[in-house]
Amino acid sequence: MTTDNSNVLIKVDNLCKSFDDVEVLKGINAEIDKGDVMVVIGASGSGKSTFLRCLNLLEEPTSGSIYFEGTDITDASVDINVHRQKMGMVFQQFNLFPHMTVLRNMTLGPTRLLRQSREEAEANAMKLLERVGLADRANAYPSQLSGGQKQRIAIVRALAMNPDVMLFDEPTSALDPEMVGEVLEVMKQLARDGMTMVVVTHEMGFAREVGTKIVFVDEGVIVEQNAPEEFFSNPKSPRLREFLSKVL
Ligand SMILES: Nc1ncnc2c1ncn2[C@@H]1O[C@H](COP(=O)(O)OP(=O)(O)O)[C@@H](O)[C@H]1O
Ligand SMILES: [Mg+2]
Repeated sequence: MTTDNSNVLIKVDNLCKSFDDVEVLKGINAEIDKGDVMVVIGASGSGKSTFLRCLNLLEEPTSGSIYFEGTDITDASVDINVHRQKMGMVFQQFNLFPHMTVLRNMTLGPTRLLRQSREEAEANAMKLLERVGLADRANAYPSQLSGGQKQRIAIVRALAMNPDVMLFDEPTSALDPEMVGEVLEVMKQLARDGMTMVVVTHEMGFAREVGTKIVFVDEGVIVEQNAPEEFFSNPKSPRLREFLSKVL
């Protein structure tokens, strides 16, 4: 099955996910257009990470469909690796390979999966490192970097695969406060450059400033979704009002 609307990058149709007999996602519907920055907020345990991980099938949905670029990637006949390459993911815990230099971390995927030559992959990696001000760290190992540097590397490593969408799961939550800004700045620049992004975060300033759609997840359902201005200044559901009163 395919969808026709060419502006829709990801369409989530009645997504449900259970772990054993615990129902974590209870029918999520969402549309992410090209260029959207969808910000997902909600309390701990509400299902935000599970939702994000279902988008690229790191978790297998129990039922429902996920259309990515028109293809239902939950269809068993689909080669998920082809589609997953187009979805960059950045986690709270960086996930860089500790025994590899920054440059090798960045060229591994492009040389192995995109079959770029080492020269091509390294040239591209250096350009990306320059973009985030870390070209001088190309030969460093992750243990020699600050948390903020590691996360900026994790972002450009994902970008080196030329993804069509970037998925972020609380990318600043593990950082010391003074390093949050440098990572958010990279993400803001990415958004300004037109990257489609889905971002789970507690950074409400970021959500307001660059979000195009804000989604509030509570107990495995999307309780409210709106453009940032309306979402923050005129929340409708009592549960969202209560949540915002705690985090704003
Ligand atoms: N692999 C798993 N096995 C069992 N339960 C899980 C697993 N992953 C998440 N859960 C449960 O699903 C619920 C939602 O988790 P999660 O999506 O991580 O929430 P959030 O990211 O909003 O904090 C939690 O109750 C969590 O314990
Ligand atoms: Mg989470």
